[in-house]
Amino acid sequence: MQVALATSSAFRDLDPDDAPLVAALERRELDPRPLVWDDPLSDWTAAPVCLIRSTWDYFDHPEEFRAWADTTGSVTDLWNRAETVRWNSDKRYLLDLEGRGVPTVPTLWLEPGSQIDIAHELAVRDWDAAIIKPAIDGGARRLLRVGPGAAGAGAAQAHVNTLLAGDGAVMVQPFLESVERDGELSIVFVDGRVTHAVRKRPSSGDFRVQPEWGGSVERVEPTRAEHEAAEAVLAAAERDFLYARVDMVRGGAGELLLIELEVIEPRLFLRSAPEAADALAAAIAGRLA
Ligand SMILES: Nc1ncnc2c1ncn2[C@@H]1O[C@H](COP(=O)(O)OP(=O)(O)O)[C@@H](O)[C@H]1O
Ligand SMILES: [Mg+2]
Repeated sequence: MQVALATSSAFRDLDPDDAPLVAALERRELDPRPLVWDDPLSDWTAAPVCLIRSTWDYFDHPEEFRAWADTTGSVTDLWNRAETVRWNSDKRYLLDLEGRGVPTVPTLWLEPGSQIDIAHELAVRDWDAAIIKPAIDGGARRLLRVGPGAAGAGAAQAHVNTLLAGDGAVMVQPFLESVERDGELSIVFVDGRVTHAVRKRPSSGDFRVQPEWGGSVERVEPTRAEHEAAEAVLAAAERDFLYARVDMVRGGAGELLLIELEVIEPRLFLRSAPEAADALAAAIAGRLA
């Protein structure tokens, strides 16, 4: 039986991190088929189930991607759900989770089209160093670090203006120094249970933990507190996820803060935990049965 794996044209053969999933599906006599999400030749009806994987260009066409998820979800069993894709494709979902008691990174949310004086906003909050990023993005692409050793007031204002002229909301956060030192903790869930965790660290002199920016990945054993915090995030989302990744960082007082809940197309770090690929294949087989 076919299992569609939605990807992007830059990753026609999937990301190498999904190789263990392909192997695990094949061990279960399933037939994994990478399909490019925005290729008109992709036939979404051929497989009874579809998993969203390396669709890492959706931020360039978010509305098309949401519409694709709706359509695909109507002809096959799409994971995660189209409605979850819609919700998670804009980082304003963090406001929902915060409203349900999840500690998140302090954020000044700016609506598209609004005008602000960024130097003033940072000064009143005492944020010497800050991050400016769009609410719809990934891979740390359009993010600017502001403050000592980074962009100055002029560049910060120009970046905010550019982002606010677009369609999406803009986020301003204090720059969390812990990220430079300890990076980000990613806790991966399959079918509601933690399978493994990795710590992603930036390369020296950077603060972006993504491998695209030279970051490294190390499998770690989460502490009980980290495990429980990640479970609380998932519970607060009140949704059915086939897979999920909870990304957490530490605030100034060492407190755990949610930076992202990734439930569209997270890299799941399956090469660090082949047993998680098995668990995912088993969950897919279970849903097909
Ligand atoms: N407030 C922050 N303080 C320090 N580093 C940050 C902050 N926000 C983002 N970063 C860095 O930038 C990266 C990308 O930001 P993130 O919010 O995870 O968006 P995405 O992964 O969707 O691009 C993070 O993984 C982290 O390395
Ligand atoms: Mg991230």
